[in-house]
Amino acid sequence: MVKAIPEVSLNDGTTLPVTGLGTYGLWGNAGANAVSSGINAGYRLIDTAYNYENEGAVGEGIRRSGISRDELWVTSKLPGRYHTYDKAMVAIQESLYRSQLDYFDLYLIHWPLPKEDVYVEAWQALIDAQKWGLVRSIGVSNFLPEHLERIIKETGVTPSLNQVELHPFFNQERQRNVHAELGIQTQSWSPIAKAKDILSNDTISQIADAHHKTIAQVVLRWQYQIGSVSIPRSTSPERQRENLAIFDFELSDSEMAAIAALSRPDGRLFDMDPATHEEF
Ligand SMILES: NC(=O)c1ccc[n+]([C@@H]2O[C@H](COP(=O)([O-])OP(=O)(O)OC[C@H]3O[C@@H](n4cnc5c(N)ncnc54)[C@H](OP(=O)(O)O)[C@@H]3O)[C@@H](O)[C@H]2O)c1
Repeated sequence: MVKAIPEVSLNDGTTLPVTGLGTYGLWGNAGANAVSSGINAGYRLIDTAYNYENEGAVGEGIRRSGISRDELWVTSKLPGRYHTYDKAMVAIQESLYRSQLDYFDLYLIHWPLPKEDVYVEAWQALIDAQKWGLVRSIGVSNFLPEHLERIIKETGVTPSLNQVELHPFFNQERQRNVHAELGIQTQSWSPIAKAKDILSNDTISQIADAHHKTIAQVVLRWQYQIGSVSIPRSTSPERQRENLAIFDFELSDSEMAAIAALSRPDGRLFDMDPATHEEF
């Protein structure tokens, strides 16, 4: 039996479950089934994006799950090609039509694209979309401290959340400290580092054995204990349940420190530095 998922409070008065289901690559009928099985396993937060081309499958998965919309949190994200104000506003509407939802709980700017330098305009569109009720809460993704400071300075509105690459090999300590100072919730993408090298990591393996848990469970518990909202993706109902069974054990300070020591400045999975990464 999976324990109830705790929630965190965001700076705009809304709340969010501390873990949710990632959906990158889940699309079509199989994607809708994976989303539905995730919800039935206990997930209440679902993470999609305009550019995943699966907002439709996510909406369909929600309807197949039989769980009512008001018990769920759905996140989507604005692509780089729609950063100008008018395009951003239309893209949010298009995301809603594709998912057949009336509102998103959270809408994020997917990447800042500083070379294009239009993200402040995109942020203004999200601020207005929230006022119009299209989205409950607004945030960003892959924003470096200078991008966060700029949108706050130019609009007076602080994002509720920043979704960034964060896993034991790249634990984003400095970025997390900036978030804490600004009152922004951290969210982790690729929270189990895509379940590749990490599954044979000796340090985490020993901790997992000590708690009779899997490596994925230890990493997701670590995410919870550092205060970041994780969104692991899995297509398998079994692994979806496994990834939720993280609320019945606790990592000690020394275990947390051992996992913190695995982080490296060059620990990103790919070369996706938000200062230079461009995707539209
Ligand atoms: N904002 C951004 O720029 C951004 C970028 C990347 C990702 N994201 C979001 O973050 C979500 C998660 O990131 P991700 O999909 O890149 O990586 P991830 O969640 O770290 O890892 C997903 C991989 O791990 C496997 N897996 C899941 N649970 C497992 C377990 N218990 N044991 C062994 N393997 C397991 C999955 O395979 P199976 O499906 O076979 O279980 C899948 O191949 C995405 O789906 C997306 O929603 C956002």
